[in-house]
Amino acid sequence: MTANPLLETNLCLIGGGNMATALIQGLIQSGIKGNRIRVSEPDPVRAQALTASGVILSADNLHAVKDSSLVVIAVKPGVVPSVLAEITPHLHPSALVVSIAAGITLDNLQQRLPPGQPVIRSMPNTPALIGEGVTVLCPGTHVTAPQLHLAETLLGTVGDVRTVMDESLIDGVTALSGSGPAYVYLILEALSDGGVACGLPRDLATWLAINTVKGSAALVQETGQHPGVLKNQVTSPGGTTIAALQVLEEAGIRGTLMRAVTAAWQRSRELGRKS
Ligand SMILES: NC(=O)c1ccc[n+]([C@@H]2O[C@H](COP(=O)([O-])OP(=O)(O)OC[C@H]3O[C@@H](n4cnc5c(N)ncnc54)[C@H](OP(=O)(O)O)[C@@H]3O)[C@@H](O)[C@H]2O)c1
Repeated sequence: MTANPLLETNLCLIGGGNMATALIQGLIQSGIKGNRIRVSEPDPVRAQALTASGVILSADNLHAVKDSSLVVIAVKPGVVPSVLAEITPHLHPSALVVSIAAGITLDNLQQRLPPGQPVIRSMPNTPALIGEGVTVLCPGTHVTAPQLHLAETLLGTVGDVRTVMDESLIDGVTALSGSGPAYVYLILEALSDGGVACGLPRDLATWLAINTVKGSAALVQETGQHPGVLKNQVTSPGGTTIAALQVLEEAGIRGTLMRAVTAAWQRSRELGRKS
C-alpha cells in the first residue's frame, strides 16, 4: 500500500457542486494533479469555474467513469438513482464507487450497481468546504482493504475521517456531525445576540462567540479532559459562570440538545427506509 494511493488513481466526480469543489480543492492541495481528476457537471458556469483547478471536464457522466478506478457520486440524493442507472454499463468492475449522498443506503447503492461492484457510503459535513470536515465511512461487502484506504485518503483531504463497519451508525453520524454545523451556527448566533444584549457591538460579539466556541472545543481536544472538568475549572463559587449555568440548566439545555440530535436521528432513519 503506497502512502498516498490517490497519486496513482484516475478518479472522477459525478456532480461538480459544493462538496465536489471542496474535494477537488483538497485533492489538489494534497498534491494530486488536476489531470488525474475528471468531473462531470451539467451547469456550464460551475463547470467552467472548476477548470481553474486544472481538472478535466467530462462531456457527460459516461466519459467521466470510463477508465476511472474511483468514482465519487457527488450529486443530490434524489439524482443518485438516475446517475447510477446511467453509469452502470460503463463502470469498470473493480472501480470503487464512493457515495457522499445523504440518506442513500449501501443496500440501495449495491442494488443499483452491477453485482460485486465495490461501494462505500460516506457522510461528510460542510466544514469540508474549508478542509475542516469530519467524515464517517462505511464500506459495502465487496470493498478491499486498499480500496478502503483509498476512500479514507480521499475524504481525508477535506478533514478527519473515521470508518465504521456497522451502517446503522450512519444515522447517528448524520444527526450529530452532518446536521451538527446548523446547531453550532444557531448557538453562535444566540451567543452573539446575548453579547449585543449586554451592549457589545455586533462584530465584537460575533468574533467573541466564534472564538470562544473554537477555543473551547480545541481545549477539550488538546487536553483530553472531560468537558465537565473544564467547565468546573471556569466556574468559581458565587461567580458569573455559575449564574449563567443555572439559567441554562433550568431551561433544560442538555435535554434539548440531546432531543435535537435524536430527532435528526429518527428523521434520518425514516429517510433511509424511504430511499
Ligand atoms: N453540502 C452538505 O452539507 C453535505 C454534507 C454531507 C453530504 N452531502 C451530500 O453531498 C451531495 C452533494 O451535495 P452538494 O451540496 O455538493 O450539492 P450541489 O452543490 O447541488 O452539487 C450537486 C451538483 O451535481 C450536479 N448534477 C445534477 N444532476 C447531475 C447529473 N445527472 N450528473 C452530474 N451532475 C449532476 C448539479 O448541477 P445542477 O445544479 O445544474 O443540477 C450540482 O452542480 C449530496 O448528495 C448531499 O447529500 C452534502
